[in-house]
Amino acid sequence: MSKYITTPIYYVNGEAHIGHAYTTFIADSMARYEKLKGEDTYFLTGTDEHGQKIEESAQKNSKGTQEFADEISATFKNLWDEFDISYDKFIRTTDEDHKKGVQRAFEVMYAKGDIYKDFYEGHYCVSCETFFTETQLVDGEFCPDCGRSTNIIKEESYFFRLSTYEDALLKHYAQHPDFIMPRSRANEVINFVKGGLRDLSVTRTSFTWGVKMPDSIKDDKHVMYVWLDALMNYVTALGYGTTEENMRYWPASVQFVGKDILRFHAIYWPAFLMSLDLPLPKHIGAHGWWTRDGEKMSKSKGNVISPKQVADAYGVENLRYFMLREVPFGQDGDFSQRAFIDRINSELSNDLGNLLNRIIGMSGKYSDFEIDSVDVLKYHKKEIDAMNLVIDSLNTFMENFQTHRYLEELWKLFSIGNKAIEEHAPWVKMKEERKDEALATVALVANILAKASIMLHPIMPNTTNIIADTLGFKIDNASYKELIEEKRMLKLFNIKQTPPLFPRIEAPLMPEAPLAQPNPQKEKCAVKDIKKEQDNLIEIGQFFETSLKIGIVVEAEIVPKSSKLLKLKVDLGEENPRQVVAGIREFYTPESLINSHVCVVANLKPAKLMGMLSEGMLLAAKDEDGLCLIRPEKPKKAGTPIG
Ligand code: MSP
Repeated sequence: MSKYITTPIYYVNGEAHIGHAYTTFIADSMARYEKLKGEDTYFLTGTDEHGQKIEESAQKNSKGTQEFADEISATFKNLWDEFDISYDKFIRTTDEDHKKGVQRAFEVMYAKGDIYKDFYEGHYCVSCETFFTETQLVDGEFCPDCGRSTNIIKEESYFFRLSTYEDALLKHYAQHPDFIMPRSRANEVINFVKGGLRDLSVTRTSFTWGVKMPDSIKDDKHVMYVWLDALMNYVTALGYGTTEENMRYWPASVQFVGKDILRFHAIYWPAFLMSLDLPLPKHIGAHGWWTRDGEKMSKSKGNVISPKQVADAYGVENLRYFMLREVPFGQDGDFSQRAFIDRINSELSNDLGNLLNRIIGMSGKYSDFEIDSVDVLKYHKKEIDAMNLVIDSLNTFMENFQTHRYLEELWKLFSIGNKAIEEHAPWVKMKEERKDEALATVALVANILAKASIMLHPIMPNTTNIIADTLGFKIDNASYKELIEEKRMLKLFNIKQTPPLFPRIEAPLMPEAPLAQPNPQKEKCAVKDIKKEQDNLIEIGQFFETSLKIGIVVEAEIVPKSSKLLKLKVDLGEENPRQVVAGIREFYTPESLINSHVCVVANLKPAKLMGMLSEGMLLAAKDEDGLCLIRPEKPKKAGTPIG
């Protein structure tokens, strides 16, 4: 069966940042994994170039819209090329074939009666290219997704009968519990659909930078809604509506998206596909957001991280490793140079790099850089069994996009190798003239490194090619079959001397995030507060009367008629999640909180807020810049005590 893997297509209103790189790295690793296994795989990425937002960005930059789109699209493509992203096609929504495909899709939906013409009056957020109802707005004006102010727009529009797909969508979610992954994200989508779907306005007359209407409909005032245009890229890239040349890859095996665009992919997209009588993708994989040193990245704060800058400083494959190892799929992750350097030094340099260096050293000393696997099984059955067990466990993690668990498990191979060297001390055996035994241990470890590098290949393709070259073999589908599927040993290794692959890093290689400007007013307050605190000291026992625990937000929704409150369900490791009503709506959207690890006061007397029971309180810090939740530096189990 063929595989089809996609990234979202990136808006061309600014250059790539680390969040874009993350989606691309996951998708690339998954595509490489499938290709390594010999699956017929197609991997798509590209750029999303229409809409008012792009038109406005071009104007701000005093450029023609197409010229501007060309330039930014090229920066994405060049970056992915520089990063060796193994895409099979880079689609642009300004490609002629794409536009034809979208028009064809529009005609099919229209002919089916799924698209009709009417008027739309609503609050429109230009930044999100989305209409909202009055009740969805924050404080009657602001976009619930990005917080920017919305405009009232009344225009003639074509509508897609999204409402008629409500039941079919709910049925699909129920019958395919893995459609949305991780599964914990499905609830927010299901609740949204259950809340009632309104027909979707799928054309605009307020701007012109979009796909024109099909000739058969003859309505030049309208251009297509950018999300209809953009979502269709996943099939137009395969030739939908034109050559049909690669449609055999459809349906996609997985479509990766950030959690902020899950709704478009898990509701609108499947409904469009149903209307076109096309099958639905197997999985929509929704990943979390990257923050920098705990703060959301934004251009205005000046803390956006450029993937190119990081890759230039630390190496792109180290970055891939870090991002895919650091964060459980679906959860938010924090980019800190400290955490990055720690992983390079301890996992890449110590565990993997040292093991390789030891093999180069020992093979040179004991057997002129040639290693024969002839005696491995005789002396190392135990280690080989342990190694096979680890390798057998890996596929499931990758199938669930759990790259952090995949890598964690994979690293057990290096422990097996290092332990074997310590236990069997080949240098002692050499002195005791038990050369066969000594060489068997060296060969065991060489085999461990060979197999580990095959399995690490999708995550660190070039680095593992160097490791394979050092060991004297090639990573490809043939070696995957032989060494992984058939569990064979590599008969002979011809070791090449290679300089250390992961030099230790002692100090950050990039400037740290800019520090907030000191605020004299704030500092005065701090001094006053310290004085007050000194008069009010407590015993440590008093502190421990408060039970603080890690909670994981499993559900979050707005409280109607309240501009301040959000209603959350927080898992504290107890039988049922607790309901917590928190005054954080001005600072967080409900979707952004799902799966967040938070700190909860767990033994607070329950209280009622706007008639709703609240069984806990979230810790947060607030100053004149706003409020932020206090969260653990790394994810911890629900219910973990704090203190
Ligand atoms: N053009 C739309 C997608 C259309 S797909 C048919 C879009 N583009 S985007 O450039 O704004 O975002 C692309 C992807 O980057 C989204 O999946 C988004 O979630 C992801 N990220 C943007 N900022 C991010 C972080 N800070 N962290 C992780 N990913 C984030 O949306």
